Amino acid sequence: MRFFILSDIHSNIEALEASIQRAQLAGYDAVFCCGDIVGYGPNPVEAIDAVRRLNAVTIRGNHDRVAAGEDDASEFNPHARRAVFWTRSVLPDSYRNYLSGLPVGPLSIHDDAQLVHGAITHEDDYIFTSSDATTNLRMASKRLTFFGHSHFPAVFANDTEGNPVIPPTYEFDEFTAVRCDGGQSFLVNPGSIGQPRDGDTRASFLIWDQERGRLEFYRVEYPFERTQAKMRNVHLPPYLIDRLAHGR
Ligand SMILES: [Fe+2]
Repeated sequence: MRFFILSDIHSNIEALEASIQRAQLAGYDAVFCCGDIVGYGPNPVEAIDAVRRLNAVTIRGNHDRVAAGEDDASEFNPHARRAVFWTRSVLPDSYRNYLSGLPVGPLSIHDDAQLVHGAITHEDDYIFTSSDATTNLRMASKRLTFFGHSHFPAVFANDTEGNPVIPPTYEFDEFTAVRCDGGQSFLVNPGSIGQPRDGDTRASFLIWDQERGRLEFYRVEYPFERTQAKMRNVHLPPYLIDRLAHGR
């Protein structure tokens, strides 16, 4: 089986469509999403429609939770808050209900794998450092945990004794593969579809090839100027518009 894993779409339909096209070329059997379908971007309805058309098994992210009206965004910065309240205002009830119904991670998707939004410790926690990863790897009940939230593609691994955390060396380009067979446990972030923050403007996702024991990371160009123009039209914050051109 080949699993198309995506995260942090953030209402960016241009990035999502380009990623789906690339994933179709590479081939996959099932789709999983680590949350944040909406927030930041200009096309929340279209992003939800596309995720549903993919039959993606999805957990909720913090932006999905706020857009659904289940949280007041007190933890959000002013730009994110403005965008998520705009999102809430344009989503029909049935779409807000869909977001409300998304399960909270960890969600088991396979004997060997689970999804979380931010971390195993809490859906809103971040995994950035080796120390964050150590804490989460010790809690992992599955060999592979897919996570999002940070918008950085990343792989953290441990040895069979559980220590230490060894982030494997790899370089991201249009395609990079990382081995994930053997006795190690892994925390794996596919990166963000709709708002990458690692200095690369291209959408980021991965395909887990379960039989071959490898994680295939992909980067895909998309016309972010089109997304930016739509964001301007609906008066989303300039800071959020500008960052798509920098991948930060
Ligand atoms: Fe996010």
